[in-house]
Amino acid sequence: MTAVDPVQVMKQEVGKAAAALVKSDSIVGLGTGSTTAFAIQYIGERLKSGEISNIKGVPTSFQAIVLARQYGIPLVSLDEIDRIDIAIDGADEVDPQKNLIKGGGAAHTQEKIVDSLASEFVVVVDSGKLVDRLGSTFLLPVEVIPMAVTPVMRAIEKLGGNPQLRMGVKKAGPVVTDQGNLVIDVKFDRIDNPAELEKTLNNIPGVLENGLFVGVTDRVLIGEVKDGQPSVREM
Ligand code: A5P
Repeated sequence: MTAVDPVQVMKQEVGKAAAALVKSDSIVGLGTGSTTAFAIQYIGERLKSGEISNIKGVPTSFQAIVLARQYGIPLVSLDEIDRIDIAIDGADEVDPQKNLIKGGGAAHTQEKIVDSLASEFVVVVDSGKLVDRLGSTFLLPVEVIPMAVTPVMRAIEKLGGNPQLRMGVKKAGPVVTDQGNLVIDVKFDRIDNPAELEKTLNNIPGVLENGLFVGVTDRVLIGEVKDGQPSVREM
């Protein structure tokens, strides 16, 4: 018999809770990552069972496209729509103001475009992602155009950050994003003003987007495992 992993069950439950918020006739931003993958699965299952109908998905990554196809969610591009009703996405850190660090899957550029356009942006995480201050457990991802990697790293060092180029796993060389760019992960000793740092980083020539999501989140659903039992609460 295969043992049930409580963390996977908890991710499933929080994904299911987010999928339950999707109403018929809506356009849904489909996020990236292992938690959102369950939300995409359950949206597909609700569509298939007829519980909801006329859903269109806006993907945030190649992973989201693959999962939406697998679970039968029709996709649209931003050129074909004039609104996104709800977006569901994961995060790597969430602070008490619901600001986020994202980009652990190198998908934060498309995620920020889609998530910021949504009337309601719902974040799905486990309780281990909650932090008092952004940057305390996770390096800040910055997507950079390849020819600008060296000058961008120097500029980030001048801002007090310690940058490192993200390397591939089971792939020689650096991680290449869905847009064909590279990712620099940055350690800052303290991120006191995420809104200001978000703008400062994006102002460095060659930076496409960084993983700070400030003032974008509407709701945070948090999965927890207590005494071996998964549960979901809202922040
Ligand atoms: C993708 O680039 C990220 O922003 C993910 O949304 C984030 O890493 C959360 O992923 P998990 O749900 O797999 O932790």
